[in-house]
Amino acid sequence: MSSYLLGLECRGCGRVLPAEPTSICDECYSPVEPCYDYNALRGKLTREVLQSRPRDMWRYAELLPLRREPQARLPVGGTPLIEARNLGRALGHRALYIKNDSMNYPTLSFKDRVVSVALNAALEFGYDTLACSSTGNLANAVAAQAARAGIKAVVFVPADIEDAKLTASRIYGATVIRVQGNYDAVNRLCTQISQERRWAFVNVNFRPFYAEGSKTVGYEIAEQLGWKLPGAVVVPMAGGSLIGRIRKSFSELAYLGIVEDDAREVRICGAQASGCAPIARAVETGRAEITPERPDTIARSLVIGNPADGPFAARAIRESGGSAAHATDEELIEGIRLLASTEGIFAETAGGVTVAAFQKLMAQGAIDPDQPAVLVITGNGLKTAEAVANVGGEVFLIPPKLREFDRVYAGSASQAAQEQAAQELVA
Ligand SMILES: Cc1ncc(COP(=O)(O)O)c(C=O)c1O
Ligand SMILES: [Zn+2]
Repeated sequence: MSSYLLGLECRGCGRVLPAEPTSICDECYSPVEPCYDYNALRGKLTREVLQSRPRDMWRYAELLPLRREPQARLPVGGTPLIEARNLGRALGHRALYIKNDSMNYPTLSFKDRVVSVALNAALEFGYDTLACSSTGNLANAVAAQAARAGIKAVVFVPADIEDAKLTASRIYGATVIRVQGNYDAVNRLCTQISQERRWAFVNVNFRPFYAEGSKTVGYEIAEQLGWKLPGAVVVPMAGGSLIGRIRKSFSELAYLGIVEDDAREVRICGAQASGCAPIARAVETGRAEITPERPDTIARSLVIGNPADGPFAARAIRESGGSAAHATDEELIEGIRLLASTEGIFAETAGGVTVAAFQKLMAQGAIDPDQPAVLVITGNGLKTAEAVANVGGEVFLIPPKLREFDRVYAGSASQAAQEQAAQELVA
């Protein structure tokens, strides 16, 4: 693989800086992002070339910010895109899909993708410690992939993250620091530490590299739709990085001639929890700036009150003709239940937010029910099981006796029949 990475382009003044571990332009302090020699790639990176490679995120390596072959090459990505006919029927959409990143390798969230890129960049630059500030999933991915690569991991999380996310960071041997404060406090601390120590903080000094990993979600969606772009995507937002990179991925595929559709026509839609919706509220009210919020929601993976990529996410949504919506804790729990009971996919709270926000966008007429729409499910329900501990099908406790089974089963069957009859009456 030869590298097509040109450097890091400033999103403020447009200067191209050498590719180095930094997240901001030293002249105007705007964020920087990798840029590539797209003209050299045109005609070279074709559908046939891409399809001939192993089915994981590394098949798009030319569009990732590495200068060499990835040293830590795990089969990350390549997750299913499934037709969600049942959920579509329930919500009045006729071409609905789910990109299921809740089963990503190795830690069951889309964060495996971003860490894969940041880790390989860190190895290229000779770092021996991988670190992050995280709402939970990122910490899991950093801990697992650092373990496999044989380097140290130090992860920083808010003190109140879910038990499963804490356990799933500790088991890999990472040093886990629980910080008494919210994510924004964790992130400020990490920024200070990154100035003191030569550590690769995947979402601080390696943020430009990390963020590019999210583009592979979009490449895969297009490829799995038969090299077509969807009419709309609905994406959960925390820092606001994933949503912007999905849009970038579609533009790149169109520019390279790999898809024929116009990338500007994909409606980019964002989803947040009502208890932390700084980006969605900026979109709703048409404001360019983001007003930071103090989070209060069970959707802990999305609780970033002051999102680093917030203004870019809001702009991507607006420019695309898309929309944003937010869901209360009750609505997101119902979203998790609905997705699980219609499609057999158990998503974490962020997935419940995505389904509930989609439902609202449908009700507002913001999404065309006949154009393919993709819900991006980014994390696994087993990590936030406590959120739905009291939801779902009934559980019976019985002695090991046939009579007892018959008794409770007959009771539940007659109850189900009554419910069905009631539903039919309403319909
Ligand atoms: C499950 C899940 N979905 C979505 C997101 C949002 O990603 P971003 O911060 O890129 O907006 C996160 C971030 O932590 C997450 O954990
Ligand atoms: Zn600049």
